Amino acid sequence: MTEQRYEKIGGKMRILYSEDYYNMSRQAANIVSAQIIAKPNSVLGLPTGTSPMGMYKQLIEWYKKGDLSFAKVKTLNLDEYKGFNKNHPNSYFRFMYDNLFKHVNIDLNNVHIPNGLNESIINECEKYNKIIELLGGIDLQILGIGHNGHIGFNEPGESLEKGTHCIKLSQSTKEANKRFFNNIDEMPNYAYTVGIKAILQAKKILMVVNGGDKKHILLDAFFGPITPAIPASILQLHANLVICGDKSSLEMIIDKFPLSVER
Ligand code: GLP
Repeated sequence: MTEQRYEKIGGKMRILYSEDYYNMSRQAANIVSAQIIAKPNSVLGLPTGTSPMGMYKQLIEWYKKGDLSFAKVKTLNLDEYKGFNKNHPNSYFRFMYDNLFKHVNIDLNNVHIPNGLNESIINECEKYNKIIELLGGIDLQILGIGHNGHIGFNEPGESLEKGTHCIKLSQSTKEANKRFFNNIDEMPNYAYTVGIKAILQAKKILMVVNGGDKKHILLDAFFGPITPAIPASILQLHANLVICGDKSSLEMIIDKFPLSVER
């Protein structure tokens, strides 16, 4: 495996290169598993999407082998579609249940995802912020990245929102996520997302990313200016950021900034 360490004022970033999605997923799962072993009651910030699915699969395998226990783990998901109940086939609760929770020994009382059905946006955001606070923040925040640089559903804009908020999904995000729906009209227009504060205050951040369609945004987000137009770029300021990428997603970065540390 090859790795690059990259430091900027205030931030430290490690990029871990894997040949393919399978190895990227194993690499990421190793980091999550190390976190849980070191601190069994870790608070994990969790993403949905295709990128982390292989990582979840690997974690389930290790749990089934008896190498890992989720008994004390607490989770805080990044986001949820507004208007969907937990059991909606496209809800993020459903995604997490099908791709991780139902396969491992996690206590569902320790699982937190915004409630898409709350009539009051203000109330839901306050409630979720309170949960984050009561849990004492996030030990390891796992993230994917959208094609437009969104993290969670923090969409590009003129400023970054600090706390949990409800956001109108951008056309680019709807286009990217419509593959999970029968057609784009079934997609909600709004979603809840944790804000930048909880993400940046996480003790560690792990980004999982794969595929050539993400190579431009990865380069812009992590080697370009920090700007709310690319929300992920703010992660450059984080002191403990690891990016697990596959060959095709890291192609442009490797081209410009050759990975140096052989392991
Ligand atoms: C969604 C989620 C994000 C995720 C992004 C990328 O918009 N809200 O948390 O990072 O999709 O998903 P994928 O990994 O499928 O490309």
